[in-house]
Amino acid sequence: MRALSVTALTGPDAVELVDVDEPTAGDGDVIVDMVYGGVSFPDLLQTRGMYQIRPEPPFTPGVEGSGIVRSAPPASGFSTGDRVAVWGNGLHAEVVRARPDQLFTIPAEMTLAEGAAFVLNYQTAMFCAVDRGGLRAGESILVMGAAGGVGTSAIQVARGMGAGPIIGLVSTPAKADVALAAGADHAVLVSDTWKDEVIALTGGRGVDMTYDPVGGDRFLDGLRALARGGRLVVVGFAAGDIPTVKVNRLLLRNVSVVGAAWGEAAFADPGLAPDIHRRLLPMVTAGIVKPPIGEIFPFADAVAAFRSLDDRTATAKVLVEIRPDLADR
Ligand SMILES: NC(=O)c1ccc[n+]([C@@H]2O[C@H](COP(=O)([O-])OP(=O)(O)OC[C@H]3O[C@@H](n4cnc5c(N)ncnc54)[C@H](OP(=O)(O)O)[C@@H]3O)[C@@H](O)[C@H]2O)c1
Repeated sequence: MRALSVTALTGPDAVELVDVDEPTAGDGDVIVDMVYGGVSFPDLLQTRGMYQIRPEPPFTPGVEGSGIVRSAPPASGFSTGDRVAVWGNGLHAEVVRARPDQLFTIPAEMTLAEGAAFVLNYQTAMFCAVDRGGLRAGESILVMGAAGGVGTSAIQVARGMGAGPIIGLVSTPAKADVALAAGADHAVLVSDTWKDEVIALTGGRGVDMTYDPVGGDRFLDGLRALARGGRLVVVGFAAGDIPTVKVNRLLLRNVSVVGAAWGEAAFADPGLAPDIHRRLLPMVTAGIVKPPIGEIFPFADAVAAFRSLDDRTATAKVLVEIRPDLADR
């Protein structure tokens, strides 16, 4: 079968399409024919050995995707032909072996492509904004990197929670359109005055939550944009720099900075991902959660998919199409 391989820790250009043996099912495992692979920021970081999980090259990247069950033991709850979303490691391959707890049935409302974008970022949004940050109905939220995979999913989960206004922060007008299409009430462009624009959109009060997958030099104004009692949720560092905070800022205005890592929590607690999935399903049925898909790259052009995250041209969820013969038509 064909699979992607990261052959050196030198960035996206070291991603190659190679031939490898197909996996065989161990006891209780499900075998899945992968159709789409989600290309995620952790995949990009792993090509440079900069993610917290650092496999030695050569390794197959891919932490999420979707496909069709080829075989499954009866006790798994899955059957041949089921459309499934998969999360884990090494998923950018034509065939993968997975434990049943790594699989979710793709809701009927979603295409296979949307299913490939339904696990990592939506689970992250529910865990980080709601479980860790305590987002409640009626609260305002500022979503940074709002046109990205993590940002668009946070917008939709915030909407599903009844939060608002939902304000997306983005770097270009095209990305503003993506954030608005995902469901944001307002999109603010990064500028010298963006913090004041955000505060003005809340009637001068500030936001109850800043959801920050970007870090870097936006962090401080994200903190300053909080209302009294607000929470800044640290989700990631797409900008590269890890910000620091003088804790007197937290004391003086009764605000909090909360760290949140879904993967760490989901690996430690096998019940977490299924529980979050159950809580997301009503938002799918209501038509609020529908993963926006950006560019879909051919499997053979995966380098370009990885590069698009690196050069910031990516919007929404970038996918690689692993099996065009099984893809949505
Ligand atoms: N905590 C968790 O559980 C968790 C789970 C999944 C992902 N993450 C993290 O979340 C972050 C975002 O992931 P994502 O999949 O949403 O990525 P993405 O789709 O590429 O979006 C990231 C956004 O960050 C902004 N950005 C600012 N400076 C950037 C730079 N130097 N390079 C790239 N992007 C830059 C861009 O928005 P503008 O151009 O509009 O500024 C971009 O749209 C990553 O750090 C990832 O590791 C965390």
